[in-house]
Amino acid sequence: MIALRGVRKAFGRTVALDGLDLEVREGEFFCLLGPSGAGKTTTLKTVAGLERPDAGSVLLDGEDMAGVEPYDRGVAMCFESYALYPHRSVYDNLASPLRSPRHRLPAAEARDRIGAVAGLLGIGGLLDRPVDRLSNGQRQRVALGRVLVRPARAFLLDEPLSHLDARLRQRMRAELKAIGAVRRTTTLYVTHDAVEALALGDRVGVIRDGRIVQTGTREDVWHRPCDTEVARAFGRPRINLLPAAVTETGVRTDGGADLPVRAEAPAGTEVLVGVRPRDLTLHGEGHRLTGTVYVTEVLGRSVEVTVRLGGQRVSLVAPRADAARLRPDDPVGLSVRPENLLLFEADRPGRPGRRIGKSAR
Ligand SMILES: Nc1ncnc2c1ncn2[C@@H]1O[C@H](COP(=O)(O)OP(=O)(O)O)[C@@H](O)[C@H]1O
Ligand SMILES: [Mg+2]
Repeated sequence: MIALRGVRKAFGRTVALDGLDLEVREGEFFCLLGPSGAGKTTTLKTVAGLERPDAGSVLLDGEDMAGVEPYDRGVAMCFESYALYPHRSVYDNLASPLRSPRHRLPAAEARDRIGAVAGLLGIGGLLDRPVDRLSNGQRQRVALGRVLVRPARAFLLDEPLSHLDARLRQRMRAELKAIGAVRRTTTLYVTHDAVEALALGDRVGVIRDGRIVQTGTREDVWHRPCDTEVARAFGRPRINLLPAAVTETGVRTDGGADLPVRAEAPAGTEVLVGVRPRDLTLHGEGHRLTGTVYVTEVLGRSVEVTVRLGGQRVSLVAPRADAARLRPDDPVGLSVRPENLLLFEADRPGRPGRRIGKSAR
């Protein structure tokens, strides 16, 4: 188990961690998601003991790590910038963590472990090759391999797939998930990629400006985002946020559509209604919005349609059969599937609107 309690860390006048609270359960694969500069790497380094918090505490399996040297914490960290021995072979690089007195294994067992990890990472055929003759993607896999070969009480992985191309990244994601399931080693995995976080994480923590703003399962962050920024982080095309006002029975959008969302706010309050692109349908029945086609883009079997709605643009994803004939400026009617609507306070500068309601499901 990894716990951070009220951790603060500043570098000069830059506050990297601003009272960060986080708990990763035993055996859990936890994804920390946030944009560049949010404090993700600093969080990992603080757990690893490579940075000392200015305030707050780090606990591993309930034990306070203050004063415990990195080497003695028993965690294995994979850095964004992989520190490998460039002139040595892939095998040697993978074997070196197993040569430290703490993790030394019998030679045959070390060989088996290295073989298994290399196979899993798709670098089994490269074991004799010097690292300086590998591609960036291959190096990144070796760096990840160095972490996974050794027994550890927790893995700390800092954007380990960021240098891979899309296809390899997808494959590695699946494999990492499989390793996670098999090894059941507590893992704190850092990424700025929401798709990755949802695919891998047993739970996800969203970090912003050095604080965790929301922690939960994929269901939680998708269906109950704490604010508009978290809602925007998940899903492509992005969630539509339509200006509306609270009424006695729900909300009315600026375009005049009445939507059945329960609001925790008095009638007349200006709000934003969140509608995911998949919850808008073309030419459907029900809660109607009318607009004109702005642009369409084919995405395989479906089409992303951007519609001008008053002064706004909204996105929806429609089956190709329904959207194929649409041309720019065509009038369209959109209906809203009411099940997944979200309601937020209006955004203010520097302060995303908090969620204040959702549809009754
Ligand atoms: N060693 C350092 N010296 C000065 N500023 C730092 C240092 N490490 C991180 N920072 C700053 O702290 C903030 C958080 O950085 P970091 O944890 O690397 O974010 P992330 O990994 O989410 O991109 C950033 O503003 C970054 O510039
Ligand atoms: Mg980082």
